[in-house]
Amino acid sequence: MSQFGTEFCNEISLVRYEDGAWQTPSIEPLAPLPMHPASHVFHYASTCFEGFKAYRWQDGKARIFRLHDHVARMQKSAASLRLPVPDADLLANMVIGLVAHHIRDIPEPPSSLYLRPTLVGTLQNIGAAAAPSTEATLFVLASPVGDYFAGGAQTLKLLVEDERARTTEQLGSTKTGGNYAAALAPTLEAKEKYGVDQVLFCPDGYVQETGAANFLLISDDEIITKPLDTSFLHGMTRDSILKLGAELGYTISERNFTVAELLERVSTYEATLSGTAACLSPVGTLVYKGEEISVRDGSAGPNTAKLQKALQDIQYGLAQDTHGWLTEVG
Ligand SMILES: Cc1ncc(COP(=O)(O)O)c(C=O)c1O
Repeated sequence: MSQFGTEFCNEISLVRYEDGAWQTPSIEPLAPLPMHPASHVFHYASTCFEGFKAYRWQDGKARIFRLHDHVARMQKSAASLRLPVPDADLLANMVIGLVAHHIRDIPEPPSSLYLRPTLVGTLQNIGAAAAPSTEATLFVLASPVGDYFAGGAQTLKLLVEDERARTTEQLGSTKTGGNYAAALAPTLEAKEKYGVDQVLFCPDGYVQETGAANFLLISDDEIITKPLDTSFLHGMTRDSILKLGAELGYTISERNFTVAELLERVSTYEATLSGTAACLSPVGTLVYKGEEISVRDGSAGPNTAKLQKALQDIQYGLAQDTHGWLTEVG
């Protein structure tokens, strides 16, 4: 299968917000979107999006993972950018309709259909820097994706960055393009300078997250991760792993911890990124102030694998969904 995010189903679901109301969504051929050059999004970055997956089980039906939680997160993002907030039912039904339409295009687990609802401000006004976009387009793009680790699970190398922030405090928990733009240059510079895969942002010396994933420390009996606040994205994978971890007997420590504690803990704790694309991605090495620090022996650890399996078994239909995380389609 092609690289993650580069292959698309040939239709999208689309709806416009005009004259103060959401219009009727329709499934349309995948094609360039005509947009006026004065559209608010091009100038003032009024855009947010979501990312989650649908899996096709052996029974031929699809299951969307945590659809309603992703819809709620999208609504929060839209509200924080003062974009028209899509009704939960409208957006959920657009996703369900598109998944139903493309059910035969969903590859079998561990592959899946990645869904990318996107909302952009289309008000035609280049003088609206301090005004909201009162017109918008919402669409759902669908992309069949393969197993992220098809080439074998490699551990990641992260730069521990305690000087530059990933993004701003007020947009930290908003899933908006500007956050990725802000993290891009520091991440590319770190790749060039230190050969790392990602940057772990640690503003004021406290461990936060990377450009596109949350961060967890895991031992045989504890999971440590930053508590929810407005500075970082509230990942569904993080939330799901914490809930499953508690059920598996891990102590869940949602608390702030410093870079100093991180560097000390990784001699015995596993470290992992968490996010929809790759689920859990084990970290093998940290780079801090030019020095390399190995996470345990540098290889992927058993607790990360155990928690990942617990989550994927639910997604793939191999374990019961006792939390009501799956929406059946088909
Ligand atoms: C900045 C950021 N943090 C964390 C995550 C992980 O979130 P989730 O587990 O909901 O995919 C993502 C990915 O969506 C992200 O972009």
